[in-house]
Amino acid sequence: MNEKKRILSGIQPSGDLTLGSYMGAIKNWVALQDDYDCLYCIVDMHAITVRQDPPTLRRRTLEQLSQYIACGLDPKKNILFIQSHVHQHAELSWVLGCFTQFGELSRMTQFKDKSKKHADNITAGLFTYPVLMAADILLYQADLVPVGQDQKQHVELCRDIANRFNGLYSDTFTLPEPFIPKMGTRIMSLGDPMSKMSKSDPDGCVFLMDKPEDIMRKFKRAVTDCEAAVRYDKDAKPGISNLLSIYCTATGKTFEEAEAEFEGQGYGVFKPAVGEAVVELLRPIREQAAELMRDKAYLEGIYKEGAERASYLAEKTLRKVYKKVGFVAR
Ligand code: TRP
Repeated sequence: MNEKKRILSGIQPSGDLTLGSYMGAIKNWVALQDDYDCLYCIVDMHAITVRQDPPTLRRRTLEQLSQYIACGLDPKKNILFIQSHVHQHAELSWVLGCFTQFGELSRMTQFKDKSKKHADNITAGLFTYPVLMAADILLYQADLVPVGQDQKQHVELCRDIANRFNGLYSDTFTLPEPFIPKMGTRIMSLGDPMSKMSKSDPDGCVFLMDKPEDIMRKFKRAVTDCEAAVRYDKDAKPGISNLLSIYCTATGKTFEEAEAEFEGQGYGVFKPAVGEAVVELLRPIREQAAELMRDKAYLEGIYKEGAERASYLAEKTLRKVYKKVGFVAR
């Protein structure tokens, strides 16, 4: 009997992975891999809800897989797969869409934001994106879904859809819970510490594959304040607090230890120290990911096996759903 709780999460290959993706998500995934039954996917079908350049999407998908592994996600302990390889996602998504109200999707704040940003291309896919996400989660009967605060509303919608379906057709889906990591790991932009580190802002953002000199330059330019004291105070000192979070996550030190270490020292000492800690943290990840990218046969083996294992689990759920809604068995 498998007693472990199941976890599913995913990241879109719509941009390169960042220090924020690592500290806010992947590092936590790695910590969960021994105690939970985990599936982690690369959600390429979600990525095309806004226009993507096809060769870039293909390259990024493979890079993301190699970076997942280089960050410490063990393909033996977790099911690592590419969403579009498991056809059941699209199939369940269609069914769930027929149990989701137009009004519910209209209330999703991410849809409202993204349709403002892509006003010339508001597609049905962008609108129904949360239904596909619900399918991702419900296909595997996930108990927990590690996501950032911005995705909580989508997980709640997923629960509502699951609840509705279970109510109409008897228990079919496990109701998932959002699993939101502690605040300290939310990494903010180095250029604007009031907004989240984002791949669309290359200067405020450190990419996992950035070269050491680029990392150092970005940290040396990071926005601080004029007090010149290394002290954690999220409201009064957002820039320094963000750098402290990064430093402590990279080194495993506590805020108190870090504050003591830089006591009486200026930002001219602190900022390069944070940069160096990040360079050392990312060095082995960058090197291993680059090496994996040179071994396409290995990567192919991983994603094919992942898709096969995921598809086996997904099919069990999909078969039940098709039967319950009244489709004739194939
Ligand atoms: N919507 C998520 C994001 O943009 C990505 C995602 C897609 C996801 N499907 C998922 C996250 C399933 C968790 C579970 O961040």
